[in-house]
Amino acid sequence: MKTFLKVLLLIFPCFIQVQAQKIGLLLDDYIIERWYSDQKYFTEKVKELGGEVLVEVAYSDTAQQVELAKKLIGSGAKVLVVIPTDSHQAARIADVAKKSGVPVVSYDRLILSENIAAYVSYDNRKVGMLQAKYALEKMPGGKYILMNGPTSDNNALLFKAGQEEVLAPSIKSGKIQVIGSFVMDDWGQLGAYMKLQDFFSKTKERPDAVVVANDELATGVIQALPKDITGKTIVTGQDADLAGIKNILVGNQAMTVYKPIKPLAEKAAEIAMHLARGTAIKGLTKTNLGTISVNAILLDPVTVDKSNYMETVIKDGQVKLSDLKTN
Ligand code: BGC
Repeated sequence: MKTFLKVLLLIFPCFIQVQAQKIGLLLDDYIIERWYSDQKYFTEKVKELGGEVLVEVAYSDTAQQVELAKKLIGSGAKVLVVIPTDSHQAARIADVAKKSGVPVVSYDRLILSENIAAYVSYDNRKVGMLQAKYALEKMPGGKYILMNGPTSDNNALLFKAGQEEVLAPSIKSGKIQVIGSFVMDDWGQLGAYMKLQDFFSKTKERPDAVVVANDELATGVIQALPKDITGKTIVTGQDADLAGIKNILVGNQAMTVYKPIKPLAEKAAEIAMHLARGTAIKGLTKTNLGTISVNAILLDPVTVDKSNYMETVIKDGQVKLSDLKTN
């Protein structure tokens, strides 16, 4: 009897391992701090639901991301959850996966293909609208600069479109004047810094507000602003990352748009596990997203500034108070 129990105990974990559904998580890069958290929360939730996560990172290489998708499928991934490097090019991933019968979940950024099973993100147009609304409230008239992310990221286009929609009436009435609008090749802060440095070296114009798409770019913008206007110029951001919150606390950045990562990552994990098991998924709505219509869930972004960062970003643990203090 004892031996029988021992054998059972030995076999049981193996049995569980065989049963664990493999989910492929295919990231773009780690340039922005948030993607570590996305990976962490996603992996934890999949594990909790009885699955296993295989991770690959494309490091901003579009062609490589397609190869990594094939690799994940080859390694037994039953579902791919993808943060596309390039929203158009990643349609290849959706095609390849479809041929292998592997559903694709487009995570945070949209893959421009109807061959995806689901899209899980925030309302990205609203992100841009919140940035511009905040800037207009603080600076209803004056000179504006817009600083946005790469066109290869569908979100970057939506952030910009949202900003422009809100700013349009004030531009038309002449209340605000856009003295520069920059679209970066990537999301790195160095590019933003160099772009603005170059701008200020060629003109005496000074902005009253810089509507910036995320905290990473905002950090570059703040470093490039002439000293006499740093802290006076309204600078926006997004992601509520550690640097962003620090910039807000010292007064160099006015706001950030907070998109809690945990609920997003957990939703994606649940959907992925349902797809892997072939069980019904709740909460997805067929949504028209410009050129394509897909099953989507779009969460609501929140404006965060000095007045509410404690009861949002800190309370949720997205940024730790101890990190703010020690840094
Ligand atoms: C995400 C942002 C992020 C940016 C750079 C966008 O697609 O929505 O949260 O800051 O990519 O990684």
